[in-house]
Amino acid sequence: MNNNKILITAALPYANGSIHIGHMVEYTQADIWARVQKLKGKTCYFVCADDAHGTPIMLKARELGVSEQDIIDKTKKEHEGDFKDFLIEFDNYHSTHSDENKFYAEDIYNKIKQKGYIKSKIIQQAYDEKEQMFLPDRFIKGICPKCKAVDQYGDSCEKCGATYNPSDLIDACSTISGTTPTQKESEHLFFQLSKKEDMLKKWTNAGHIQDEIKNKINEWFETGLKDWDISRDAPYWGFKIPDTVDKYFYVWLDAPIGYMASFKNLCDKSDLDFAEFWHKNSECELYHFIGKDIAYFHTLFWPAMLDGADYRTPTQVFCHGFLTVNGEKMSKSRGTFIKADTYLKYLPAEYLRYYFAAKLNFGVDDIDLNLEDFKTRINSDLIGKLINIASRTAGFVKKFDLKLGAEIDNKELLKTCQDKSSDIIINYQKRNYAKAIRQIMDLADLTNQYIAKMEPWILIKDDKNRQQVLNICTTALNVFKILMIYLKPVLPDLSKKCEDFFNLPPQNFNNINDILLNHKINKFKPMLQRIEQSQIDDLLNDKS
Ligand code: 2FM
Ligand code: ZN
Repeated sequence: MNNNKILITAALPYANGSIHIGHMVEYTQADIWARVQKLKGKTCYFVCADDAHGTPIMLKARELGVSEQDIIDKTKKEHEGDFKDFLIEFDNYHSTHSDENKFYAEDIYNKIKQKGYIKSKIIQQAYDEKEQMFLPDRFIKGICPKCKAVDQYGDSCEKCGATYNPSDLIDACSTISGTTPTQKESEHLFFQLSKKEDMLKKWTNAGHIQDEIKNKINEWFETGLKDWDISRDAPYWGFKIPDTVDKYFYVWLDAPIGYMASFKNLCDKSDLDFAEFWHKNSECELYHFIGKDIAYFHTLFWPAMLDGADYRTPTQVFCHGFLTVNGEKMSKSRGTFIKADTYLKYLPAEYLRYYFAAKLNFGVDDIDLNLEDFKTRINSDLIGKLINIASRTAGFVKKFDLKLGAEIDNKELLKTCQDKSSDIIINYQKRNYAKAIRQIMDLADLTNQYIAKMEPWILIKDDKNRQQVLNICTTALNVFKILMIYLKPVLPDLSKKCEDFFNLPPQNFNNINDILLNHKINKFKPMLQRIEQSQIDDLLNDKS
């Protein structure tokens, strides 16, 4: 095992909206991975932050009559609460509207500018005369020039998929003032991505990204790397660009720099060395978990910016697909646009974490939360299979003063469970969580079959079998303990309950080989509740 230190990030959520269960796919995926590294004994940090800049936050502040700072402070608290409740264990959670982020945004910009990667160009842009502001494409609506669908955004049509310029829209209007936008000239700053083409071609072909994304990137190379507009005119909520009058960094310039800023903030609170992780030849590993929709930013702009400013580039960028609910895009009218805190009113976080894990692999395909399947799966896997091992056997140990036996009845079963450890851990490591979960549940099946075959509830009727019953239960409970260690990255709270039940300190993957004999345990208490249909119905009917 190499002993490199690891830094893991998940995408920074925008500071103008709530976390929903679609977001949770990524945070769960990344959190499980970070926990796996830690349970293996690796030095690993998992950081994130709120993405706190951009026009939507500025407009929301105006609409509510509060300051942008008020909005981002309030949202950050809300986000942090949601993450904690979903057992997403960040080592640091920061904001892109921070001193650290300003410092690194300016630092990177100054370096890439000095190296000649920045050029300025005059462009024509839609302008709202009434609000006296340039309009981002998303704030212009009109009729699609191609299929004539009404109410389409300025950059693309949701009906026919056409992409176009806002000036091509028929009857365009500003969604802010309702007036017809005019065209106005403005000088913008561009990052000349094509100057980084050689570096990017090398980097994208050196094992840092998934094959599916590589294919997409090759298409982008073929169509040519375009200059990237990194500036926005006032009024804009963001950092002012050094040596300009009223020009601001586009939110997507300083967003990924937020990964560095959050880590720097952590370094300043601890004895960690920022440079060790970020200098050009760093041996530390850097992993970004993101959705496939933001691959362009993370696999082209971001490595180009880092390399251009003489920082290290990511070790790997892991993309995942989107979440559908009952086979369709999440929808407010169907009740399937479910906010994280709404979900938690009705169901435990670990159920969703388990379900996502059981569906996630290393690809970029979308995953579906089918609520019927969700209920069946949780009730069958977690309650029917996993917890069942303990609930069927722990009661007998009570008859022995809650002390496990001196012998294992079925050494072979225990060994089978232990021998799976490298396979299961490798599957976690490869982000093939679905396979790891299948392997763990196969072991739970084997164990339940063993208990059913041994029938301790019948054996116990005859006093001469007392010792054998204890040894059977000692076997089953030792397996239960091992399975709970395997599941610890996915179900950290349940694992903690299990550690308490066994009177054990926090376990890690090395403890898979410990066997508990003559060991005092606690009285078994039900650890999980079955999902009832009413919980699902109530969740779908909750419109908050
Ligand atoms: O797509 C989004 O939600 C962005 N806020 C993600 C930013 S990730 C990183 F680059 F900051
Ligand atoms: Zn159209």
